[in-house]
Amino acid sequence: METLDTLLNKISYPKLTSPLPSKEQMDIAYKAAFRAPDHGRLRPWRFIEVTDNGRDKLGKAFKNAAIKNGEEDQEKLTKFENLPLRAPMIIILITEINENSKIPAIEQIQSTAVAAQNISLALFDMGYGAYWRTGAFLSSKNSHLNKELSINEGSEVIGYLYVGSPDIKGKEIPSLNKDDYVKYWD
Ligand SMILES: Cc1cc2nc3c(=O)[nH]c(=O)nc-3n(C[C@H](O)[C@H](O)[C@H](O)COP(=O)(O)O)c2cc1C
Repeated sequence: METLDTLLNKISYPKLTSPLPSKEQMDIAYKAAFRAPDHGRLRPWRFIEVTDNGRDKLGKAFKNAAIKNGEEDQEKLTKFENLPLRAPMIIILITEINENSKIPAIEQIQSTAVAAQNISLALFDMGYGAYWRTGAFLSSKNSHLNKELSINEGSEVIGYLYVGSPDIKGKEIPSLNKDDYVKYWD
């Protein structure tokens, strides 16, 4: 696909199934991530690629973090435990925030967000789908999460990229009116 085709046609797929991208294809996707703009070259992005039994491990981490956060509703806890089963691969999106840098944390998080989008675009280009989710299991919303995920305290989980092959045909791209979003000063 040409670059602009990918940029203009990329959509998110909430339903994802096998097959997964190969290791070689994921290597390309991470290379695309590492091309994210990065103020101060801090390389703040970290990823945990979760597949197979790793998804059960992630589900247990979600459940434990929720329990430690005071959740007692068994139905909700089971739901949390099953969240990672919605796709064959989940990439945990993490910013390892460099507190000693003069670059603000928000810029380091923004760089991670761009890196995540680069992964999504690369995967779409190779025929796969992705869906960015957040919800309750962010470092900013659950102070027990990092420990459950074995991530150091200075890092921040900013989201989850669910990855796989789209199992439904893509939706239509909404046509937005440019003038609602763009102003010109000339
Ligand atoms: C930071 C971020 C967090 C998101 N979290 C969720 C989420 O938790 N649940 C959800 O359904 N969509 C979430 N989305 C939106 C979807 O990833 C997707 O962009 C949206 O459904 C629009 O689809 P499209 O990308 O095909 O236009 C999030 C998007 C971003 C950028």
